[in-house]
Amino acid sequence: MTARIPLSAPDVSEEEIAAVAAVLRTPHLSMGPELAAFESELAEYHGVEHAVAVSSGTAALHLALLTLGIGEGDEVIVPSFAFVAVAGAVLQVGARPVFAEIDPLTLNLDPAAVERAIGPRTRAILVVHTFGVPAEMDALRELAQRHRLALIEDACEAIGARYDGRKAGSFGDLAVLGFYPNKQMTTGEGGAVLASDPAHAARLRRLRNQGRDPGIDWLDQIEPGYSYRLPEPACALGRVQLRRLDAMLALRKKAAARYDALLEGICGVERPPLVLPRREISWFVYVVRLPEGVSRDMVREQLAGQGIATGRYFAPIHLQPAWRARGGAERLALTESIARRTLALPFFNCITGEQQEEVAEALRSAIQCAA
Ligand SMILES: Cc1ncc(COP(=O)(O)O)c(C=O)c1O
Repeated sequence: MTARIPLSAPDVSEEEIAAVAAVLRTPHLSMGPELAAFESELAEYHGVEHAVAVSSGTAALHLALLTLGIGEGDEVIVPSFAFVAVAGAVLQVGARPVFAEIDPLTLNLDPAAVERAIGPRTRAILVVHTFGVPAEMDALRELAQRHRLALIEDACEAIGARYDGRKAGSFGDLAVLGFYPNKQMTTGEGGAVLASDPAHAARLRRLRNQGRDPGIDWLDQIEPGYSYRLPEPACALGRVQLRRLDAMLALRKKAAARYDALLEGICGVERPPLVLPRREISWFVYVVRLPEGVSRDMVREQLAGQGIATGRYFAPIHLQPAWRARGGAERLALTESIARRTLALPFFNCITGEQQEEVAEALRSAIQCAA
């Protein structure tokens, strides 16, 4: 059943519909002018030299790891409080994800925990800017430099966020973006890798297109690669979304502030910080923490009964059946205790004040019942 108030909703305007329709009237449906323009606009937005658009955020992660030469026998430090693709991509290149604890305020990798997780096989830190809050980039960059590790930023949830005034995605050796419809901007499906090194950009472009280099015959191949291209209509959609991105982020920031005021005083509910030092948040989701002892399942059920969708954001990766079955016996006490209490509320560009009031009221009465 579709919820009356969904968890997320894409914001697609007539301008985007017209841009996609215009592409469909041309013979260029893949690898055409929209791709080239989208990539240069993405690079410019982030203040980096290169952007390589691909078919998903997961494809972007896969290619980023391959491009940095990470593979069999290597370890990559990742958060467990994250979307499964983060660890899945590491596994996809034959490396081993090593889960590290998070900072309880920002929910991002805790640099001290990362340092403890570094071992002789560690090759990279894959830092995720969770929920659009930039991670502690100064400390993580210093760690990566000191231990000669690659630093990959996963900015799939954080396009437009800033740390010390610099865009998330402009710090790492490589950074990835994702454009699934629940994201701040969408291309339907899609993603991108940001790079400053032209050799990395060339390798990424080759790998996403079956290992072909520009100008070679379509049936020739330089190295084994993948079919990770982003089609022209998606690029056209992304270009208009990117032009509207800052306005969309402003709407989301306003919606977060409105929830903050509406949820004040609900017994024991912890709201996410609206402001954090050195950071400009790009609001991806609005996640509260329920009081200890309140059944999240009951709260979710009660809201669902009123047509209000919610999410668990995140179920720790190391506790998933797929990962338990791999024999990992990790305990991440902080991640586990936070993840038991998190609840994502409906949150999207066009959410109305009335919808947010209804969500807040429903949450207030559900907590009273579930306590
Ligand atoms: C942090 C993070 N990384 C990677 C992905 C994967 O992106 P996609 O769903 O486009 O493959 C997502 C979400 O969808 C994400 O939130």
